[in-house]
Parts: sequence; C-alpha cells; structure tokens
Amino acid sequence: NGRLLCMCLLPCMMTGHLLVYVMVSIFVTISYAPPKITIHYVAPGLSANTSTLASHPLGPFWNLRLEDGALWNQLQHAWDRQHNPILRGNATGPVRKPKAKILSGIEEECLSDCVTRRCWLPRLRDVNGLPEQMKAFVRSMHCREYPLLINQQGACRRNGSGLALESPMLFMAIKSQVGNFENRQAIRETWGRSGLVWGESSRTGALVRTVFLLGRQDSSTGPHPDLKNLLELENQKYRDILQWDFQDTFFNLTLKDLLFWHWLRQYCPGATFVFKGDDDVLVRTDALLDYLHKQWEEHNLLRIYRNQTDVGLDLFVGDVIYNAMPNREPSAKYYIPESFYKGGYPPYAGGGGVVYSGSLALRLKEVSERVRLFPIDDVYLGMCLHRLGLTPSHHPGFLTFDLPEPDRGNPCAYKSVLLVHRRSPKKMLTLWKQLQNLPGRC
Ligand SMILES: *[C@@H]1O[C@H](CO)[C@@H](O)[C@H](O)[C@H]1NC(C)=O
Ligand SMILES: *[C@@H]1O[C@H](CO)[C@@H](O)[C@H](O)[C@H]1NC(C)=O
Ligand SMILES: *[C@@H]1O[C@H](CO)[C@@H](O)[C@H](O)[C@H]1NC(C)=O
Ligand SMILES: *[C@@H]1O[C@H](CO)[C@@H](O)[C@H](O)[C@H]1NC(C)=O
Ligand SMILES: *[C@@H]1O[C@H](CO)[C@@H](O)[C@H](O)[C@H]1NC(C)=O
Repeated sequence: NGRLLCMCLLPCMMTGHLLVYVMVSIFVTISYAPPKITIHYVAPGLSANTSTLASHPLGPFWNLRLEDGALWNQLQHAWDRQHNPILRGNATGPVRKPKAKILSGIEEECLSDCVTRRCWLPRLRDVNGLPEQMKAFVRSMHCREYPLLINQQGACRRNGSGLALESPMLFMAIKSQVGNFENRQAIRETWGRSGLVWGESSRTGALVRTVFLLGRQDSSTGPHPDLKNLLELENQKYRDILQWDFQDTFFNLTLKDLLFWHWLRQYCPGATFVFKGDDDVLVRTDALLDYLHKQWEEHNLLRIYRNQTDVGLDLFVGDVIYNAMPNREPSAKYYIPESFYKGGYPPYAGGGGVVYSGSLALRLKEVSERVRLFPIDDVYLGMCLHRLGLTPSHHPGFLTFDLPEPDRGNPCAYKSVLLVHRRSPKKMLTLWKQLQNLPGRC
C-alpha cells in the first residue's frame, strides 16, 4: 500500500513543482521591464545628417557594477557615460563641459549657479544623519571654479616682469591656511626658499619657486579673525600667495589641487617638477633636487634612445598606500559614509607631500575634468592617476608617519629622508640648521 501510494503521489508532486516553477518564471518575465532610456546619442561621424540618431544600446557593454545608492559612484557613472568614447565618437576631441541634463537623470544640476548658491541637494538617503562637513561637501561638489582673490601672474617670469617665461625645475605648491603665517615664514627661510638652489651632492643648481595655496578664512566663512590686511602685507613682501574664493575647509582641499593645476597651466606650464605638500612638513629640498635631476636625466636618455622627442615624463612619487578602504567610523576626520562612496580606494600617495612631473600635472588637470570631486584630496589624486592608467611610485624617503621615536632628534637619521611629517615651524628651523652640516658628521 505504501509503495502504491508513493508511486501515485510522486508524479503528482513533481507536476505540482513544475507548475509552480512555470508560474513563477512567467510572473518574473512579465513584471520585468528594461530601464527606459529615452535620450539618444548623436554619434558624430556616423552621418553628416544630424537628424539620424544612433540608438542607445539597451544592454550596457561596459562595466555596470553600479553600487546602488552610493552618490559619488552614480554621479561618476553618469559622467563616464557622457564621456564614453564609443558612445560619444571622438575621444581626442575637446573635453566637454558637463551638461545640465545628464543622461541617467540622477541629477539636475544648476549649471554654474555656484555663485548664487541656488543649488540642488542630490538624492542621498540619510543626508540628515551625515556630519556637517559631508553635507557641505555634497551641496557644493559640482562647483569647481572659483575666482582668484590673490594671484601671482609673474611667478614664472624673469625678474617678475616681462614676458620671458622662466621655467623652474621644481615648483613647490604648499597648502596653507590664512592664519599659518609662522609656518609659511619658516618654510621660506628653510626648505621652501625660492631661487637658485643647489643639490646636495651633484652641485648642480636648479631654479625653485614656491607658492602657498590658500582658500578663504574670514568672518564670512566662520568664526575667524579678520587677517585680510595682514595677508595682503605678507603678499606684498613675498609675492608667493595664491588665494581662491572658497571656504578653506578640510573637505575643500581637493579644490586646491584642481585650481592649482588650472593656474599652473596658465601661468607656469613649463615647470619640470611639481611638489605639492602641506605646511607642516619638512622637505630636504637639496636631496630631492638630486633625486629629480637623476630622474630627469634618465628620462632624457631614454627619450633619445627611443627617438621619442615629444614624450613627457610620467613621474609621481610619494608615500604610497595600497588597498585602502574608506573610513566608516562616523566620528573620524576622514569618515566617508557608504551612502556617498562604495568600493576601495585606488593606490594613492598620502601624508603631506608628493612630487610629480610638470607634464603629468597638465595631464592630471585634463583628466580631472572627468572625475567627480572627492572630499579627500590624496584619494582624489589617486583616482585621477588611475584614470590616466598610472600608479604612484612609492619612495621610502617620504615619511608620512615620521621617523621612529628615538631617531627623531638625531640629524644623521635624516640622511635618507626626503620628506618628513610633521614638524612645527620651530622644529623646522632647528632641524634645517642641523641638516646643513650633515655631510661631515654622518
Ligand atoms: C538631412 O536629411 C534630410 C532628409 O533626409 C535632407 O532633407 C537634408 O538635406 C539632409 N541634410 C544634410 C546636411 O545632409
Ligand atoms: C575628432 O576630433 C579631432 C580634434 O578635435 C578632429 O580633428 C577630428 O576631425 C574629429 N573626428 C571625428 C570623426 O569627428
Ligand atoms: C633681471 O635682473 C638682473 C639683475 O637683478 C638683470 O641683470 C637682468 O638683466 C634682468 N633680466 C630681465 C629680463 O629683466
Ligand atoms: C567649500 O567651499 C564652498 C565655497 O566657499 C562652500 O560653499 C562649501 O560649503 C565648502 N565645502 C565644505 C565641505 O566646506
Ligand atoms: C627619429 O624620428 C624622426 C621622426 O620622428 C625621424 O625623422 C628620424 O629619422 C628618427 N631618427 C632615428 C635615428 O631613428
């Protein structure tokens, strides 16, 4: 009986399962509709007649692992589509400015309304739960152009006047804040001296030029004492301040890189190398120059050997951090919520200072127009490099985390150091003096 019952029930159960499966499949198929994309691309080169539109492919063929809900990823993805050479036809053409309507419809940007502040807040799930600086960043992350308040048009001109460009071997751009007069002065008196600087061993001189990158810190941007007049005096004396009209906050530091690249292209495009760093580091400029001379000579030899006359040097060195993940601790300075960015960081150079070649700086400027602003400047640089297909090179002389404690007071320990973080103005002065007498004692 049991066996008979089993033989009868088994086909019934199997048919039942099959029925359920078929019904579920049909239901899923019916309820699925492909995303509606109504906007079409004009494919230039396809036909001279612009009334013919190339249809947008429904099944995307590039990586569409869009991490749902992360604002930066979505905005970047929209730009990637906009700049996609396959969809857009001409990759070598000029970089298009972002248009008001971006195809995915994620954002409706109020174009160039960064001045009037009539700006939209992009959809971000838990925007009210975010720290203040993150909110401020999201509100202004589409603004990238700010006017110069203090400029140095003659930074790379001979004697500060005339039209003859005088390209420095090393252009030092140091991120500072209005109130840090002491840091700037210590840098001017030590490692950041503009003019002809001798290398440590090679005894070849090189032209170095230093400027300080500042945003705004006055009564209109927070509870700051008004140091405007002092800053003006300082600039009259030293002519090395670049100040832009944006709030100088931690999450706005990326703007300094971006605006500096713009500035560099306009006023000092011939700089061979660029140092970008903070105003609380110590750089052994002479040793750095030796290193850069060597890199430059090698590059030139290679260029002659390969008969490539117009190839720029792609050099980017610093203290490179690999496989970093965003900090998800809400109280941390570097906190990046998951609703803003998902994924790991590309390799990037952190810690107060990096050196890159001038030609790379110009390429970074170009590519940055296609990379959404990211609140952490070091990571943003890594993202731009990644876009160029480059990775930063690690140099053990860049000490983000300082020397081991017992060695800090010993000048000989600095022999192999190029940059060390972090040093107060007073320490800079004493250390610099000691370092000038190194060779005999070490
Ligand atoms: C585009 O096509 C229309 C209709 O086919 C035609 O009248 C027109 O002359 C074409 N324009 C060009 C620039 O070829
Ligand atoms: C691509 O852009 C370059 C430079 O702007 C231009 O000379 C060339 O004609 C363009 N090619 C096509 C197919 O549009
Ligand atoms: C720059 O100044 C030096 C002296 O300081 C002078 O000899 C030289 O002619 C000047 N060069 C130009 C281009 O004015
Ligand atoms: C950056 O500067 C702009 C312009 O001053 C300001 O509106 C914005 O709030 C600042 N962003 C942050 C994160 O402080
Ligand atoms: C180097 O390249 C140029 C053109 O790019 C060519 O005219 C010249 O013959 C080349 N020289 C050698 C040695 O290959």
